[in-house]
Amino acid sequence: MTFKDQIKEGIPNILPTKIDLDPTINHAPKREEVLSITEKKLAISNALRYFDKIHHKELSKEFSDELNQFGRIYMYRLRPSYKMYARSIEEYPCKTKQAGAIMLMIQNNLNKDVAQHPHELITYGGNGSVFQNWAQYRLCMKYLSQMNNNQTLVINSGHPLGLFPSNNNAPRVVVSNGMMIPNYSSKENFEKFNALGVTQYGQMTAGSYMYIGPQGIVHGTTITVLNAFRKINKNPLGKVFVTSGLGGMSGAQPKAGNIAKCITVCAEVNDKVVKTRHSQGWIDEVFTDIAELIKRVKVAKSNEEVVSIAFQGNIITIWEEFYKHNIFIDIGSDQTSLHNPWSGGYYPYGLDFNSANKMISKDPELFKSKVKQSLLLHADLINKHCQRGTYFFDYGNAFLLEASKAGADVFAEDGINFKFPSYVQDIMGPMCFDYGFGPFRWVCTSNKQEDLDKTDEIACQVLEKLMVNSPEETKVQMQDNIDWIKSAKSNYLVVGSKARILYADSIGRVEIAKAFNNAIAKNKIGIIVLGRDHHDVSGTDSPYRETSNIYDGSKFTADMAIQNVIGDSFRGATWVSIHNGGGVGWGEVINGGFGMVIEGSKECEKKIESMLHWDVNNGVARRGWARNSAAIFAIKKAMKSNSDLVVTLPNEVEDKYLKNI
Ligand SMILES: NC(=O)c1ccc[n+]([C@@H]2O[C@H](COP(=O)([O-])OP(=O)(O)OC[C@H]3O[C@@H](n4cnc5c(N)ncnc54)[C@H](O)[C@@H]3O)[C@@H](O)[C@H]2O)c1
Repeated sequence: MTFKDQIKEGIPNILPTKIDLDPTINHAPKREEVLSITEKKLAISNALRYFDKIHHKELSKEFSDELNQFGRIYMYRLRPSYKMYARSIEEYPCKTKQAGAIMLMIQNNLNKDVAQHPHELITYGGNGSVFQNWAQYRLCMKYLSQMNNNQTLVINSGHPLGLFPSNNNAPRVVVSNGMMIPNYSSKENFEKFNALGVTQYGQMTAGSYMYIGPQGIVHGTTITVLNAFRKINKNPLGKVFVTSGLGGMSGAQPKAGNIAKCITVCAEVNDKVVKTRHSQGWIDEVFTDIAELIKRVKVAKSNEEVVSIAFQGNIITIWEEFYKHNIFIDIGSDQTSLHNPWSGGYYPYGLDFNSANKMISKDPELFKSKVKQSLLLHADLINKHCQRGTYFFDYGNAFLLEASKAGADVFAEDGINFKFPSYVQDIMGPMCFDYGFGPFRWVCTSNKQEDLDKTDEIACQVLEKLMVNSPEETKVQMQDNIDWIKSAKSNYLVVGSKARILYADSIGRVEIAKAFNNAIAKNKIGIIVLGRDHHDVSGTDSPYRETSNIYDGSKFTADMAIQNVIGDSFRGATWVSIHNGGGVGWGEVINGGFGMVIEGSKECEKKIESMLHWDVNNGVARRGWARNSAAIFAIKKAMKSNSDLVVTLPNEVEDKYLKNI
């Protein structure tokens, strides 16, 4: 059967042969067993809904085994035999190119070179799922192959509810992931409802088909590291940046450190992950012996080398031994997956990797207590380094949140705020998001390198033109992104689809997209998918991350994210998504995103102007209303250039009126 026929077939009538787990692939750890016998039966009958009755006898046994062995039903047998990667759009069977582009993006999210646990349909973050099982994948691809421009596919937490009549201007796909009745949105409930097969953790760009591999995050991390060094007034050369994690997003840190020109030391407990990143060239050197690592770092410091070094082991070993050996850490952070602390996101100190994985399923309570103990030690060591002058920031991975829950000394004197800033509070919020600068990205659906090169050139030209009249306040951001795009190709950032990212504000995004649309119209490049990370100005309400620099009390509300995605859906998005969870954990964040397929038409140009303008400025307006000065500046500027934009601005209250209250 051809690739196209397999896509069109969906769930096959004749079951494919059962396949063994591929040992060369990084598999998800066994999930905690949370279901009672009655609930297990429900989970199995839920899974069997996808199959003809004639298969129920065989599959009920198989799914029950999967549930017992892995804690979830992935339906491994249904995993397609074709290679999973983003093909050129021409290779997809589809009646509309919009659907073809979405298929391409889905396959990219499941490519083994891109995804963290590809066979469990997890793209990144330990639990960031594209679908819950392979039946959902097959059904979704089938629907996409048959849909027309008057239909919209509804995806509820990976489950394709079906194709519904809509219209040409409506999104082709509407995705929601993990939306819960708020009182049921606890981590415990997630495990249960996910095991039942009725919800999933879509992370941010995993369940919305917009992940582009670690490249996407290299850029944001580079901007963060560059601005962190600006914050402490240090030239990165010869300075040490210590962090952890070489996974989906964290794997970008060493490369970002190299681009920012410092010495990056990054711990990673999983040897498979270390090997992958090393072989992909994302890390320069690997050490397993801490004494050797210390020697190497001393040499790198004295030579002011630009180098990235992985330590295969626990991050706590680095903090501990660097303290003992007086290795000064200029900047410290952490990117273990603490949004997912009990299921393998954070490996506690003193337990080897395999024993830890066994303990997660065999003795989850003991594992939890080990994580908490480890976090206490972890925070204590960071405190000691900070007393020596290290600048530590939380990288939005819920490190401070989980450390505080474990009882660590991480609170400021007021007992309410943390003593360390999150990278958004100190860096990304005031320097980027409030001005509307955020992670705009695009994918060349022709899958051709030459298209990507041309789009790099176009984007660079647009930014250089805009730079001439850009205000002083945003010139640094503009320049960082011009530098970035100029060297993006030579930094070999592409893994998977031919994608690129840069930070731009509303005008930058609109102008770049229009220039691409123009180039498509002139047949200079093929169809482009526009999108962004959810980790952006407007798409995400997350009190300890994206909206952590909102100080009017509204950071615990999620109106912005909801408005953002609804607004995108009727202004021209090809697909929209809204998620509970992502980055900092289930119940801790609501985030949304979009994908927009542009084909070179006038219609597309209108959609670009309308949707991208809203997609950025609704968040800038909200940030301005929260009295953030950079956002007030940016939204006033936006109002000047578009008289249809009329935003409510805040009035400042003088302190004297509040004194006696
Ligand atoms: N990169 C960013 O810009 C960014 C932004 C916001 C949040 N985050 C957060 O960072 C976290 C990491 O994301 P990811 O996609 O890389 O997750 P991931 O699960 O793919 O990678 C985390 C890695 O940390 C390793 N690890 C866990 N405990 C460890 C320990 N004690 N010592 C050393 N290594 C350990 C794991 O083996 C894993 O490979 C997530 O919580 C994510 O939400 C990242």
